[in-house]
Parts: sequence; structure tokens; C-alpha cells
Amino acid sequence: MSLTVSVFGTGYLGATHAAGMAELGHTVIGVDVDEAKIERLARGEVPFYEPGLPELLRKHVDSGRLRFTTDASEAAQADVHFIGVGTPQKKGENAADMRFVDAVIDTLAPLLTRPAVIFGKSTVPVGTAARLAAKVRELAPVGDQAELAWNPEFLREGFAVEDTLRPDRLVLGVEKGREGRAEAVAREVYAEILGRGTPFLVTDLATAELVKVSANAFLATKISFINAIAEICEVTGADVAQLADAIGYDERIGRKFLGAGLGFGGGCLPKDIRAFQARAGELGVGDALSFLREVDEINLRRREHVVNLVETCAGGQMKGAKVAVLGAAFKPNSDDVRDSPALDAAGRLHLAGADVKVYDPQARHNAEAVWPTIPFKDSMAEALEGADVVLVATEWQEFREADPAAVAGLVASPKIIDGRNCLPAEKWIEAGWEYHGLGRFA
Ligand SMILES: NC(=O)c1ccc[n+]([C@@H]2O[C@H](COP(=O)([O-])OP(=O)(O)OC[C@H]3O[C@@H](n4cnc5c(N)ncnc54)[C@H](O)[C@@H]3O)[C@@H](O)[C@H]2O)c1
Repeated sequence: MSLTVSVFGTGYLGATHAAGMAELGHTVIGVDVDEAKIERLARGEVPFYEPGLPELLRKHVDSGRLRFTTDASEAAQADVHFIGVGTPQKKGENAADMRFVDAVIDTLAPLLTRPAVIFGKSTVPVGTAARLAAKVRELAPVGDQAELAWNPEFLREGFAVEDTLRPDRLVLGVEKGREGRAEAVAREVYAEILGRGTPFLVTDLATAELVKVSANAFLATKISFINAIAEICEVTGADVAQLADAIGYDERIGRKFLGAGLGFGGGCLPKDIRAFQARAGELGVGDALSFLREVDEINLRRREHVVNLVETCAGGQMKGAKVAVLGAAFKPNSDDVRDSPALDAAGRLHLAGADVKVYDPQARHNAEAVWPTIPFKDSMAEALEGADVVLVATEWQEFREADPAAVAGLVASPKIIDGRNCLPAEKWIEAGWEYHGLGRFA
């Protein structure tokens, strides 16, 4: 059955979710406070880089099934409302900033004059959903006919369309003792996905909130685990990539997320593990998550290590060293530079006096907004021209597939630091490069 759906917040999560809901057959209205973003989306343009999303968005803007507004009252009559606004880290604190989620509830709930279900998708501290459910009942003219449930989102940037339309599981948290229509409505919203046998876990609100932050805490821990092992490999001459292959064959461990390198970043993992620790502290169980502080520190240490490695490769003299940084996005197939290890390394090198040139296939615009004083180049060749040291900081396909022999002709000195362990090391060494991996070929 086709429903009318609103999506509050049209960033990486919300814009993809809105287009995905239209693809599932619903009539969708996306709401955001950012007028420039809404104007672009309404024209069928995606204001960020996400493979496959421009086609999906245009298809449904053209069909009339998907529209965008800055006026929340236009969304008030929808059967279903999704909240996908940001929950960034608070300035100077580890906790999440919940202002944007609360603002949506404060705006939307008083407009609810007919029964509706609000599904929260933003990643929030445990306890938020219960607090907001009570607030919705209090503020909505329909009272407890307005329900709130939590439906955490697991999409990965770079694969956001696929993950939205074909998620590996759906999780729905509903209010214990007050189970209303939320589960039935979610089954209608996701009928096509559930019809394919996708696992659907219905939990209480707290469990649903914790599922999301626990998943991210686990993934961050896995990455920091292998990066800690990389530190040991670096002083013993061992090879962390071979080690990861060998332990990864064990099904209990698995090879995914065991790529040692510059570490994790982006708009989710770093702020989510910090907010999780802050929340555990508020709940009086801070010790339970004290290991996440170590996970964070291991991760940040990798950035420092790479900067030190550049200095060593530049003969111990950072001032004036020409460094080509390949990549600014926090991962390939995304233009997201939020807490990006690549951009952070470029910034540190720049501040240390190196003559840095950065190239990223998609993230230039976002990166320049953060570091207007760093020269960003239009091509890999321009960034490499005359470089004393090359740092691969994001594993874009263009860098992984570069021809080491051809590239050697551009630089002043063939020294490369593979900050993502993503290059075919032997090929680069054969082509005459001094190759440094992280936790291998140290
Ligand atoms: N990006 C991801 O891969 C991803 C994956 C899973 C979960 N999440 C979670 O989803 C949430 C959103 O993340 P994102 O990456 O899409 O963030 P984002 O910054 O790209 O988008 C957030 C959007 O919300 C808008 N907004 C702020 N206040 C608003 C209001 N009162 N009404 C309407 N819109 C408002 C902003 O203008 C912005 O466009 C976060 O909680 C994040 O942790 C993100």
C-alpha cells in the first residue's frame, strides 16, 4: 500500500531515505531548514556525491512522487514521518548535540492533528526515544494517536542507495507497554523489503537505540584493533596485511574491517563512540565503555604516525617539503570530509610547514571549505608534479589503479606512503619506488 511519508533532514541519510521511500512506492516530502539544499533537491540535484542517488532522485522528482520543502506544515498531513537530522558531537564535549532532533519534534508534534507515526532514524543516545515519545504525546493535538518509534539506519556512504533499498536487516524499537500501530505501519512502509525475507527485529526503544551505537562501536574497535597490531608490526618487521588475511580466514573473526591504515573517520564512527562513552558515564556505567577511549586514541595515533613518516621520508625536514596528498574524503566513493583522517593528515602537514598539494576525485569542494589555505588540485598528475613524498590517504580506485612507472615520471623523488595499504606494493617497488605501508614495509 502506498503511504504519504515525510523525511525531516535531507543530508546523506535523509535525502537517500526520501528517494528510497519513493522508489518503494510511497509519496514523499523531504523537509530541511537549509534553503539552498532544498532548492537543489527540488530541481532533482543531489547536493553531495553518492553513487546512484542522482538517478533515483531525478526519477522520482520527475514522476512527482518526491518533493522537497522548508515548510514543515506541508508535511503535517503525512501518515508517517522519519527523522534523519544530524546528531553531531557537541563542541568541546564528547556528548551528542540533540538540538536538531528536538527541534524537529518541537515543530512537527504540534502540527499533528491526525494519527501519525514518527520513526526516528538519527543515531541518538540511549533514552532519547522514550523522552521524545512522551514529548510527542504531550505536544500533539491528537495526543497518544501520535506515536514515536525508533528505526536506526545502517546505510554506508558510497553504498547508501543499495543499503536503503536492500538493507541486511531492519530494526524497530517500540514503546514497551504502549505498542500501538508503529510495527504495523513499519511493515507497510517496508513491505517490499520485508517481502524478500529481510530480517526484521522488533525491540524496545532502548535496544533499538543501542543496536546502532553498538554496531558502530564494534566496527571502530575492529579497525583500531588491527591498527594497534600494525604498531607492533612496525617495530618487529612483520606484515599486518598478511596477518589480517591469516586471522581473517577464521570465520569467528572475518577479514572485513581489518584493513590497517590511517584509521576511521567520517560523520558517524568517531562521534558515535564518543557520544556512547558520554552516555554510559551519565548512566553511571562509564567503566563499561572505557575501552572506547583507547579505540579512539589508537585511531588518532595513526594520523600522527603518518605525518611522522612523511617527515622521515622528506629527510627529517618538513618545512618546504613537497608533499602530494591523494585523497581528502574519509573514504572512497564519498565527498564527505567530516572528521576525515585524510584531510586531517593534509592539514597537519600543511601546518607543519610542508608544501602540500591535495587531490581528491570528489571531495575538493567540501575539503576547501575546511582548509581554504591548502592548494587543492584538479587532477592526480597536478598534485604529483615535483613531489618529494606522495601520501595515499583515501583508497579511491583511481589511486589504486595508478601506473607506478608512469607516475614516477611526475614526481621529484619516488617515495610513497600507502596510508590505506591499498596499492599493489610489489608493483610499486619494482617500478623503483620507495614504498612504505602502515604496519608493513615499514
Ligand atoms: N551519513 C551516514 O552514513 C549515516 C548512516 C547512519 C546513520 N546516520 C545518522 O543519521 C543522522 C544524519 O546524518 P547525515 O550524515 O545525514 O547528516 P547531514 O549533516 O548530512 O544531514 C543532516 C540534515 O539535517 C538538516 N536539519 C537540521 N535541523 C533540521 C530541522 N530542524 N529540520 C529539518 N532538517 C534539519 C540539516 O540542514 C542537514 O541537511 C545522524 O544522526 C547520523 O549519525 C548517518
